Amino acid sequence: MTDRQYPIPSDFASVSNLKPSDYRTLYERSVTDREGFFRDQGARVHWMTAPSHVGDWSFESPVKIEWYKDGVLNVTESCLDRHLETRGDKVAILFEGDEPGNSRKLTYRELHGEVCRFANVLKARGATKGDRITLYMPMIPEAAVAMLACARIGAVHSVVFGGFSPEALAGRIVDCDSHILITADEGVRGGRTVPLKVNADAACQIAAKAGVSVDTQLVVRRTGGDVSWDADRDVWLHEAVASVSGDCSPEPMSAEDPLFILYTSGSTGQPKGVLHTCGGYLVWAAMTHDYVFDLKEDDVYWCSADVGWVTGHTYIVYGPLANGATTVMFEGIPTYPDASRFWQVCDDHQVTLFYTAPTAIRALMREGDGPVQKTSRSSLRLLGTVGEPINPEAWEWYFHTVGEGRCPIIDTWWQTETGGAMIVPLPGTTPMKPGAGTFPMFGVEPALVDADGNTLSGATEGNLILKTSWPGQMRTVYGDHERFEQTYFSTYPGSYFTGDGARRDEDGMYWITGRVDDVINVSGHRMGTAEVESALGSHPSVAESAVVGYPHNIKGQGIYAYVTTTAGTEETDALKAELVKHVRTEIGPIASPDLIQFSSGLPKTRSGKIMRRILRKIAANDYGNLGDTSTLADPSVVDALIDGRMSG
Ligand code: WT7
Repeated sequence: MTDRQYPIPSDFASVSNLKPSDYRTLYERSVTDREGFFRDQGARVHWMTAPSHVGDWSFESPVKIEWYKDGVLNVTESCLDRHLETRGDKVAILFEGDEPGNSRKLTYRELHGEVCRFANVLKARGATKGDRITLYMPMIPEAAVAMLACARIGAVHSVVFGGFSPEALAGRIVDCDSHILITADEGVRGGRTVPLKVNADAACQIAAKAGVSVDTQLVVRRTGGDVSWDADRDVWLHEAVASVSGDCSPEPMSAEDPLFILYTSGSTGQPKGVLHTCGGYLVWAAMTHDYVFDLKEDDVYWCSADVGWVTGHTYIVYGPLANGATTVMFEGIPTYPDASRFWQVCDDHQVTLFYTAPTAIRALMREGDGPVQKTSRSSLRLLGTVGEPINPEAWEWYFHTVGEGRCPIIDTWWQTETGGAMIVPLPGTTPMKPGAGTFPMFGVEPALVDADGNTLSGATEGNLILKTSWPGQMRTVYGDHERFEQTYFSTYPGSYFTGDGARRDEDGMYWITGRVDDVINVSGHRMGTAEVESALGSHPSVAESAVVGYPHNIKGQGIYAYVTTTAGTEETDALKAELVKHVRTEIGPIASPDLIQFSSGLPKTRSGKIMRRILRKIAANDYGNLGDTSTLADPSVVDALIDGRMSG
């Protein structure tokens, strides 16, 4: 069967920044003259002292990754100061609140002023270069202001998604030893409030027990709802900014000084702090944002992600602002007040470039074409997607119904670790196939390998590795460089292992098939099975559990938990509900198991290793080909599990 292919929509092709031949030329240069290519790309950012080095790196142990290392910069100069002269009155952040009609515009000049004042508030509370500052924020402009304020003074921000529980927030505060927490009284999403300050207070208590005291909690007033107050620790932002100056000179930073930490799930243990540095990250953010979105000066660009994820960091804040673009920040959800909200916002603000996740597309597709068709969407010229493989049905609907065949669909594969887009059908350069990531970004050298690390050639399928470094690559796991090496460079020594599988077709296009490790992708969010298991295991009724992903119509993957209870426990629906609640308390709603199956035994090898391959198949209702079960200590557990699945 040949895959369906669509040409570049002709109206788009006639005005695109890149043409098919540009891709070939630029890609060729990016891999044959990497130094020269990335030296040129380095000019996208403003340097206080220009770097003389470009890339210095080794994927062999000891792994070391440095880019532009003797350059000196402050990323906020690239994102703010340098635009003041020519773009001072241009809208930098266009905020669309949860409630329709509640929107607010911040020009580059206003944003610059707010960032400087916020930075001075941080300084007044004792923050200095290198300090880690945790953010637990709703999707309001102050979230971006806070990130940039940290960067202005050289502090390292760690943004924790507002949907995480106090336990999860505390774990992240403790891991990076953070003494300042920035939050809001409450968040608002889909007409409901989220008790951020309550959660933040609880997290501070938990962190204190683990020996890390948060001495400043800076609180943004979003709703004005009642909050409890600790006068020694808590500071209202609006009060604090009233007494500080609007001038704050940018802290000179080495290119390799840390910019931020972002915690992400892995296949083992607790989330790891992915560390990105100032120079290379910003070059990669600016370069990819420009190429991926075919950016033009008067675009209105909207990425619907949350700043709590890397997509929000790179493609709401750093990339667009470095490029002087207008970036929309949306506080709400796709279905509030109804399923036409996304498209309504596109009309209201004349959005030209729109970027969202397959899970949102599927959820909206389920509501039918009506909510889309009652809007115009005539301003749109490009549609992007990110976070998980997009199924062809969702792709077709996005292309035909939302974009009416006018807009290319830009499916961007990347990871928290990569800092920015890595495999992507660059607009104007390639025909599209629904579900294909197509070709590597400039400077990216992917390869497919088998389990033993043999490189596979031609049309084939295998594990996806990257053979060379790029400026936006993560530099280490915060506080644990050994874990960094172990996680990414030990499976295929000398290469970066992505954890993803991929197929390459006859045209050389890459198709990402999904994670090949114990990471599951729920609604485009990464969740480690080990984390969910550890949360379940902390409940007194749970003796053992095994968590796997299974196909889910809207979420892409759902969370399936096999639970063995402690002796004498009654296995009721009430207990299942309690276990779900327990996981929500330990991690947050995004980790809630979708299905729990009580199972008296789990399939284990004689050495006690759980065979997840079998559990994945049973969860997927795919019993035909369970593979070799003869090495199991007790093969009969498999039948019992299948019976349980079928009756569950
Ligand atoms: C994992 C990374 C990229 C920022 C948001 C998620 C999956 C991501 C795609 C895509 C197929 C994708 C991969 C990857 N993924 N984008 N376009 N097609 N799969 O970042 O939380 O670090 O997750 O998301 O499995 O490894 P993340």
